[in-house]
Amino acid sequence: MKLERILQNQGFGSRRQCRQWVELGEVRVNGEVVDDPGAEIDTTGLVFEVEGHSWTYREKTYVALHKPAGYECSHEPKHHRSVYSLLPQQLVVRNVQSVGRLDQDTTGLLLFSDDGAFIHNLSSPKKHVPKVYRAELAEPGTDALVQRLLDGVDLIDEPQPVPALHARLLAEKTLEMSIDLGKYHVVKRMIAAAGNHVEQLHRSGFGGLNLGEGPLSGLSEGQWVYLEEADLQLLHSAARKA
Ligand code: URA
Repeated sequence: MKLERILQNQGFGSRRQCRQWVELGEVRVNGEVVDDPGAEIDTTGLVFEVEGHSWTYREKTYVALHKPAGYECSHEPKHHRSVYSLLPQQLVVRNVQSVGRLDQDTTGLLLFSDDGAFIHNLSSPKKHVPKVYRAELAEPGTDALVQRLLDGVDLIDEPQPVPALHARLLAEKTLEMSIDLGKYHVVKRMIAAAGNHVEQLHRSGFGGLNLGEGPLSGLSEGQWVYLEEADLQLLHSAARKA
């Protein structure tokens, strides 16, 4: 593929801008400066540098972010900053989108990609991908609350009661639960329907990937990582199993 095209589809700007990067000698391929924008480059395993920063060529890109509170999952946020401001500009230019959304005050694991099939696969209600949440409750949790969530609660826009896949108290006012539904405010509404109130919500797991484990260990709030093949396999099998 021509070098200028590689830079363009990896998110480095317009064709003209990408040409300029190359002609200015700012682009290295496998360690060597290449100043011909039309140079044909093999993209297999390609590592290139732009202004001294190293990038791996990725046909599609997959990212996990540890979302802090106070960020909206929107390109045009209304009241808070955008989660996209936490990602490098190249990824935003590549038009990565979040897989579902988290409320602005919810923290935790949020995935992004520019692969439409991947996003659809993981967010389709038909795939029942499990997500794990930790809720800080306004009132002490009880066994009855846990049981109500496991039995299923009525939500206004759902024809059937919605059950948690699992639910347990981690502390007096801390509840962990998992669900496979991805609806607006669903966890907060489920807990309200079961007679309590969520004061703070955190998503710790999505389809077998968990913050604090494997590729996501040490990922603190506001940080992101690329997901690699093994992580994608885990997510695919979570979607398939459902
Ligand atoms: N359920 C909620 O209520 N909020 C979220 O951010 C995610 C799930």
